[in-house]
Amino acid sequence: MHVHLRQGQVMDLVVPSIRRGGVDTVFVMPNLQPPVTSVAAALEYKSRLQAIEPQVNYLMSLYLHPSVTPHVIAEAANAGIAGVKLYPQGMIGVTTNSESGVAGDFVETYAPTFAAMEQYDIVLNLHGEVPGTVPQGNVSLEELFLPTLKRLNEKFPKLRIVLEHCSTAAAVDAVRSCSPTVAGTITAHHLYLTGDVSEVDPHAFCKPIPKTPSDRDALLKAVCSGDPKFFFGSDSAPHPLVTKQGSPIPAGVFTQPYATQLVLLALEEATEKGIIDEKDVTQENIEGFLSLFGRRFYKLEEPSPTGPRIVVKRTGEMIPASIRSADGTLEVGISRSETPVFSLRE
Ligand code: NCD
Ligand code: DOR
Ligand code: ZN
Ligand code: ZN
Repeated sequence: MHVHLRQGQVMDLVVPSIRRGGVDTVFVMPNLQPPVTSVAAALEYKSRLQAIEPQVNYLMSLYLHPSVTPHVIAEAANAGIAGVKLYPQGMIGVTTNSESGVAGDFVETYAPTFAAMEQYDIVLNLHGEVPGTVPQGNVSLEELFLPTLKRLNEKFPKLRIVLEHCSTAAAVDAVRSCSPTVAGTITAHHLYLTGDVSEVDPHAFCKPIPKTPSDRDALLKAVCSGDPKFFFGSDSAPHPLVTKQGSPIPAGVFTQPYATQLVLLALEEATEKGIIDEKDVTQENIEGFLSLFGRRFYKLEEPSPTGPRIVVKRTGEMIPASIRSADGTLEVGISRSETPVFSLRE
């Protein structure tokens, strides 16, 4: 429920890998160049995605910007747009294309837009980090954002809100303490990365920066808790290998072709290390996190019990280092390459 599918050549390469990762429904992020700020642009983007891979349900989003007025929200609801992503402004070099994000006290300045989203039942997706603030001591940019999450929830109690890519134990607690209209997504990579690795390995570098082992463990526990407030959003964020090898290193971990497999691998490793209890890694909890809770939050049709299922098998498959375009001109590195992983079939 949170993927970056990009545009142009990167899109052509990445979109065919969605189903290989066990995924048939994606919430598509709008941080293109230029950002997707109109309903027409979102629908045009959707038709491009559908032309590449029609066997995927694309939930589209707008990028919160002054042009996303209450009138545009009404139009978006009519067009079936699922959400609006808020990127705090000033995160240049922090997240891809967030220079166009919202500035100042956006809870006040965007109140009419949020009220319209509440009325038309459109989801608000938060990149929950406070920009431009040097963390004091152990307080992360994400923790600094959490009071704003609470304020939004209190001011707009019917607005469905997703705190995207939760990376701290504090974020998990904050999502739990908000009303049931607030949920959090958890990525695959935040289940196996910590800050020390993410800061030095370009393919593991992302925002929010993965944090401490105890933060990672809180995320693993939330995944296996059966709590419907937490569901899978891979935040798969491809960048061409040449840019990952350059400077500054763009933030983003590419997991799309192994999205499901990487979650299962992280759960298996955490079980072996005793971080999570084997009895909590149940079919029911995994199915809730990967499939059901996100669909319910977005009010999608319940999958039929006799519908398609994923079967994972251990076949000795290794994650390749990268995927490449047919003409060889584009290469995108995959997270955790050369690691044995479950093979997947439908
Ligand atoms: C993206 C694209 O393909 O347009 N480019 C990239 O991944 N370097 C744009 C983006 O970064 O969001
Ligand atoms: O690591 C990240 N990459 N975090 C984001 O929020 C944006 C994303 C991207 O678009 O590359
Ligand atoms: Zn984000
Ligand atoms: Zn993202």
